[in-house]
Amino acid sequence: MSGSTTTSRADGTAGPTPLDQRGEWTALGKHRTQLGSAHLRDLFADDPARADRYTVEVGDLYADYSKNLVTDETLRLLTELARACGVAELRDAMLRGDHINVTEDRAVLHTALRAPRTAVVATDGHDVVPEVHEVLDRMSAFAERVRSRSWLGHTGRPVRRIVNIGIGGSDLGPAMAYEALRPYTDRGLEFRFVSNVDGGDMHEALVDADPETTLFIVASKTFTTIETITNATVARSWLLDRLGGDEAAIARHFVAVSTNADEVARFGIDTANMFGFWDWVGGRYSYDSAIGLSLMVALGADRFREMLAGFHLMDEHFATAPPERNLPFLLGLLGVWYGGFFDAQSHAVLPYSHHMSKFTAYLQQLDMESNGKSTQRDGRPVTWQTGPVVWGTPGTNGQHAYFQLLHQGTRFVPADLIGFARPVPGLPDALVPQHDLLIANLFAQGQALAFGRTAEEVAAEGVAADLVPHRTFAGNRPTTTVLADRLTPSVLGQLVALYEHKVFVQGAVWNINSFDQWGVQLGKVLAKRVEPALTEGADVPGLDPSTSALVRRYRAQRGR
Ligand code: F6P
Repeated sequence: MSGSTTTSRADGTAGPTPLDQRGEWTALGKHRTQLGSAHLRDLFADDPARADRYTVEVGDLYADYSKNLVTDETLRLLTELARACGVAELRDAMLRGDHINVTEDRAVLHTALRAPRTAVVATDGHDVVPEVHEVLDRMSAFAERVRSRSWLGHTGRPVRRIVNIGIGGSDLGPAMAYEALRPYTDRGLEFRFVSNVDGGDMHEALVDADPETTLFIVASKTFTTIETITNATVARSWLLDRLGGDEAAIARHFVAVSTNADEVARFGIDTANMFGFWDWVGGRYSYDSAIGLSLMVALGADRFREMLAGFHLMDEHFATAPPERNLPFLLGLLGVWYGGFFDAQSHAVLPYSHHMSKFTAYLQQLDMESNGKSTQRDGRPVTWQTGPVVWGTPGTNGQHAYFQLLHQGTRFVPADLIGFARPVPGLPDALVPQHDLLIANLFAQGQALAFGRTAEEVAAEGVAADLVPHRTFAGNRPTTTVLADRLTPSVLGQLVALYEHKVFVQGAVWNINSFDQWGVQLGKVLAKRVEPALTEGADVPGLDPSTSALVRRYRAQRGR
């Protein structure tokens, strides 16, 4: 990485210059001061051509970032910052299989999951592409058997309901993509995604299920995650109880997706029914691996591969386009700009698509588990903002819920607006005209957020003077609009890869490791300690007074 080595790490050795002491950061700070309260209205008035210039087209995606609080100079300085931080070098190190996940000493190669069969992607001197395609081929054969109704349950009936049991990256991706691509799925099959250790989740998946025609896909990278193993154990008992207790039924009704063959076997699933992946795939980057098995059953192998091709298209763009025309670089740097110089605490992702209802929830893990860090790659604390709170739900619903705050609240919330020019295939003719209204709302929101409505404009409409302040919109709230032709498997792949790489760019600038997740460990450890206190009243050492009181109250309420 570039940058002088003037500050010390905890171990006393020199480290790279901290982000906020870099000349490029200081230059951005000065530029921010000069920009002051410049309004998007002025930026467009001064430079109407920005509407054309601040766009990038990649594959099927057209991104308009002209409604952001940036000028040519901002973009130049941000690109300089990325150069100084060595973002492109770290990207290249990731793509060539270096162990850039430094705290776990692992390569980060989710891009290999969608590399074409002919590609070579090596890590530790070993080309991983052949095994990626070997697993994809096995998944395809399995998916085809289920889809052709020739995968039979223990009593000889074809599978009809598929229950994916997993959590976090082993749930959010397949569940999101299943919803997004539902118009392309086999409607004769039923899919359920069970993640929560709350028994209510499994209950709803099984309450109307027929055990003879139900197939469980247990998806867990580690196969030790307590929620997943608890739910899978319950599912196994549910099945055996209803199919006469014959253990041979497990092989017909359970398959596993994991990197951990030993634990899969210990659980009782034949490893012949296991689909593997590798430690160089992070959980939140895994739904295009075997973790997407349920999705492949729903879509069919060809459409799943179309989705992988969409991912790959964006990977190629990320790997080769110059930073100033590179969409993941641009979106990542805009977030760095707003977090660092506008004190933005959150980022809204607002897809104008019912089928994208789980997209932002999926991005929450991708972004917040990756970049919710406050320690630099070499162990020093950061002294700058890192990942924002990511949130949002589909439009137009959000407009009637929280958009009030976006328009007139005191918070500064940059947003991405995502839409599709054509409705999903298969909509009845009577529903197609609504699409114009949907997209009109998307465009109108971007316009209202950017340009607002001045007091003069409001008064000119004849609004009573005392109401003018209430009906004025300050505007100047930045959005990026991403418009695609249609929501297809390929387009979904392009979008997910776009956000994966955006998160990468930000992590690289902030000098954090986007690929570990130590922050989720403590809660897991404590939950294991607290559970015996709830069930047996065990004396748990180290419980704080508040938690002890809560345990006592819970036990009393449960009559213990
Ligand atoms: O919650 C942390 C986490 O490790 C995620 O990163 C991961 O996606 C999820 O748990 C599930 O893990 P696994 O696939 O090993 O069950």
